[in-house]
Amino acid sequence: MNATVVQNIETADDANKKALHDDMISPRFYTTDFAAMDRINIEPVRAEWDKMMAEYEGDNNHDHFQRDAAFADEVKDNMAKLSPEMRQEFMDFLVSSLTSEFSGCVLYNEIRKNVTNPDIKQLMTYLARDESRHAGFINLSLRDFNLGIDLGNLKRTKKYTYFKPKYIYYATYLSEKIGYARYITIFRQLEKYPEKRFHPIFRWFELWCNDEFRHGESFALIMRANPSLLRGGNKLWIRFFLLAVYATMYVRDHTRPMLHEAMGLDSSEYDYQVFRITSEITKQVFPLAKAKTRGGVVGKLQQAVCAVKAAATFARLYFMPVIEQDLSPQVRMEPAW
Ligand SMILES: [Fe+2]
Ligand SMILES: [Fe+2]
Repeated sequence: MNATVVQNIETADDANKKALHDDMISPRFYTTDFAAMDRINIEPVRAEWDKMMAEYEGDNNHDHFQRDAAFADEVKDNMAKLSPEMRQEFMDFLVSSLTSEFSGCVLYNEIRKNVTNPDIKQLMTYLARDESRHAGFINLSLRDFNLGIDLGNLKRTKKYTYFKPKYIYYATYLSEKIGYARYITIFRQLEKYPEKRFHPIFRWFELWCNDEFRHGESFALIMRANPSLLRGGNKLWIRFFLLAVYATMYVRDHTRPMLHEAMGLDSSEYDYQVFRITSEITKQVFPLAKAKTRGGVVGKLQQAVCAVKAAATFARLYFMPVIEQDLSPQVRMEPAW
């Protein structure tokens, strides 16, 4: 645990400490059992897999992550109008988003280097390529304020959490799909209310989130090719990860109320929209979905300041009823939101 908790991000040092910081809700770095991952067989989904690989190779976002001529002016015009508190929340959002993107980049790259399985190696090469672009693009926006993150240092010094491969599939699949749902929800909102777009980076979110959507598709195919991952006792793990990933997002987002308000959203409304989209998508792979939460049980997590209370709320949420669902024979789906 990093001893220094950075409250405000005023200097590059603060931004770097924030990215390194490790607590319940900050984005983590992961490592896994590479040898086990090397043994994955994707033959049962070969046709859909090859089609997906062709899409990665086509690389339709090849030149998306370049700034346009208007970018710098939009930053200058809009950022000056933000209150110092709002500016802090936005910087926190950038650092936390960058850390998540870079976490994917590091994990995918490590898997790529440590496996020989040609399917997995090829997939990880594409995933790391995309995440490295995403992280780099966010870092440019931090550098505008001299708050750039030293990615090399972050990779060397941030704490790594070990996850078995199956946990990596559940958690990464969900994170990618949630990433899609988060970015598209913000993009659609600001498309409707362009006057609320206080930073140009949001203009990039539509094509950006298609990368995340496709990343999620890759893990969906891996899990569907290995159906034992989705049966029996593993259903309990899926339930756990659904809750853990959603709850972390909810609590983290509620530390930045002004950010959502500036976009004309409130944090709860935004998160529920993200839950709805993600639950719709995860039907492609998870044999169960969380039943609707009522009465803001999730909200209680945020107020549960002590660990015991948080654990009790978490347990209550864990044992909430679930809806069993059948999986369609075709795995892949379109990003239609
Ligand atoms: Fe990404
Ligand atoms: Fe991704």
